[in-house]
Amino acid sequence: MTTPDFAAAFADTRAFVERGIADLCARRPEGTPERLMESMAYSLTAGGKRLRPVLTVQAAALFGMARERSLPMALALEMIHTASLIHDDLPAMDDDVLRRGKPTNHVRYGEAIAILAGDALMAWAFEYPLAELARLAIPSDRICGALLVLANALGPSGICGGQVLDTDDESAIPSDEHPWAVARQKTGVLIRAAVLTGAILAGADGASVDGLARYGDHLGTAFQIEDDILDVTSSPEALGKTPGKDEAQNKRTFVSLFGVDEARALAREESRRAVEALKAVRGDTFFFAALAESLVDRAN
Ligand code: IPE
Ligand code: IPE
Ligand code: MG
Ligand code: MG
Ligand code: MG
Repeated sequence: MTTPDFAAAFADTRAFVERGIADLCARRPEGTPERLMESMAYSLTAGGKRLRPVLTVQAAALFGMARERSLPMALALEMIHTASLIHDDLPAMDDDVLRRGKPTNHVRYGEAIAILAGDALMAWAFEYPLAELARLAIPSDRICGALLVLANALGPSGICGGQVLDTDDESAIPSDEHPWAVARQKTGVLIRAAVLTGAILAGADGASVDGLARYGDHLGTAFQIEDDILDVTSSPEALGKTPGKDEAQNKRTFVSLFGVDEARALAREESRRAVEALKAVRGDTFFFAALAESLVDRAN
């Protein structure tokens, strides 16, 4: 695959995921109040890069799994991610009014529904793949292994813990280590889980899983460094969210600590380390290497 092939492969997988999301949102699970479903679907279908579900589908494909079989897990990753964004935008957290180019969930539906839509998406992210992957006759040890990785990524030592570190001014972590810890816990864990759940579902060997875990860690950190850079360099149109929020809220970020130029160099180094980790992974990892390179200097 050359670079245009990478872009085409990403676009094709993303379109496949988008169809899956549209199908998911067209149905309302029995007993789900209409307004709750509407609010969940509003944020799920608002767009976004779909990085995490694309990673899941591609990681499973690396070990021979047809994309229809990894789709339920990929959708679960996007459910968790979207839920984390709905909660991240709440007035009690980052207090944002713009997300994915549209009013945030709580602006559109009110805080109570937004909180509950996030909660519901987090539970659905386990309910849905459990039922669908069992229906596809995927071995139950693989389903359990993948869902454990997902639960760890969401829980106290994952996103929830990372979001606390990000909002806690009294954090005991020394300030030069703080952005690394926050990046790993609030963002890296889910990007790592996106890759690992796909690989585990498809029955990847242990050495490949370990290599992909390191890849996911470095990719996740590179991704958050870029997110911090875009907050100071981008526009609402390109970003689909309000820039300048980190400084306004006195966040300790890679940019506040190192400045934009050094942060860029750090992102490149993390991307390089992600690519290096792929050496331990069996199969043609070009897609993953090209993805790591494309995330540095991304536009949104
Ligand atoms: C934004 O994630 C939040 C972070 C973890 C930095 P994305 O930049 O992947 O958001 P979408 O999905 O494209 O909207
Ligand atoms: C959010 O990080 C990470 C999660 C939602 C877990 P940010 O607060 O930096 O994300 P944006 O910039 O609002 O997308
Ligand atoms: Mg935040
Ligand atoms: Mg935020
Ligand atoms: Mg940010």
